[in-house]
Amino acid sequence: MNKRKKFSLLVLPGDGIGPEVMREALRVVEWVGQYAGVEFAINLGTVGGAAIDAYGTPIQDETIEEAKQVDAVLFGAVGGPRWEKLDFSLRPEIAILRLRRDLSLFANLRPVTVFDPLIETSTIKPEVIRNLDLVIVRECMGGLYFGEPRGIETMPDGQTRGFNTETYSTNEIERVARVAFDLARRRRRIVCSVEKANVTESGLVWRQVISKLHEREFEDIELRHMYADNCAMQLVRNPKQFDVIVTGNIFGDILSDLASMLTGSLGMLPSATIGSSTGDSFRPALYEPIHGSAPDIAGKGIANPMAQILSVAMMLRLSLDLEKEAELVEQACIQSLARGARTADLALAGEPALTTTEMGDAVLRELESLIT
Ligand code: IPM
Ligand code: MN
Repeated sequence: MNKRKKFSLLVLPGDGIGPEVMREALRVVEWVGQYAGVEFAINLGTVGGAAIDAYGTPIQDETIEEAKQVDAVLFGAVGGPRWEKLDFSLRPEIAILRLRRDLSLFANLRPVTVFDPLIETSTIKPEVIRNLDLVIVRECMGGLYFGEPRGIETMPDGQTRGFNTETYSTNEIERVARVAFDLARRRRRIVCSVEKANVTESGLVWRQVISKLHEREFEDIELRHMYADNCAMQLVRNPKQFDVIVTGNIFGDILSDLASMLTGSLGMLPSATIGSSTGDSFRPALYEPIHGSAPDIAGKGIANPMAQILSVAMMLRLSLDLEKEAELVEQACIQSLARGARTADLALAGEPALTTTEMGDAVLRELESLIT
């Protein structure tokens, strides 16, 4: 097979800790380029609050167009208190929501993997989380985030009313369910579909559509159904019962933050946002940590860059067909943790904490030692 030697990346660090963790991720990208003898043509773009300040919009149309052209988009985080008072259509979060929608990226893959060295960091008992490996497949182009009608109105009696709509239709459900079933085929072959079919019509349709698709095309996979509230409880009680979880936009958002704490820190979870695959790789696709811009610690240089670095690994694997390099990056992360590298979010009381840059140094050191 003819391996490609040149890739174009659009890098969008965003706000808060976004630029801080992205800096470390880019050092890893640079290392991979040298090691694998491939060239990364990197374009930096401005999104989120930073773009509001510079251009008066959370994301420029040019940036969206560029994102459609490149091999992969690497995204940091957006948002912060400075922009919280803006109208919804102008808020930093629109940057990521538009990227997902305009690039037709409907499935957000959020792997929840517990690394051995962090067993003690998690607030959950070791036996509950040891060797945990599940993936949340979150639908991210529909549901409550995009449903119409939505808005804020004044009622006749003067009260203010905010409203949103949760909708899911056959095609939207089937395409994300296919991603989940396909993924399960390469894993333990169990898909748990999560909704509130007991109280919402959209949840009921979700359940029915997935069941029919399962009967038609995926009978080799075990399909389970679970209400979202129960799923939140089960994730803490016995997370190892899960292999692949597939769910809508809002439940996926909430459950993945919850699940991240099983791994020790919100700062550990990467994600890949993909659309329909083109052959063996996904293009376009977007890679981002699941954490936000963390304004409370931004600018202090103490954020954990692992989620952003692990997002690079997902990009190497899923979009660039650099599986070996993806594994090297993941191994380097685990090795550095095994040697005691801890940012503040991971350090136990009294343990010394590394800065963001020092954590990047630790990963790069392990990359070097893995190849010698
Ligand atoms: C996430 C984030 C985003 C979301 C925000 C920043 C819009 O929380 O990716 O989980 O809610 O989808
Ligand atoms: Mn979220």
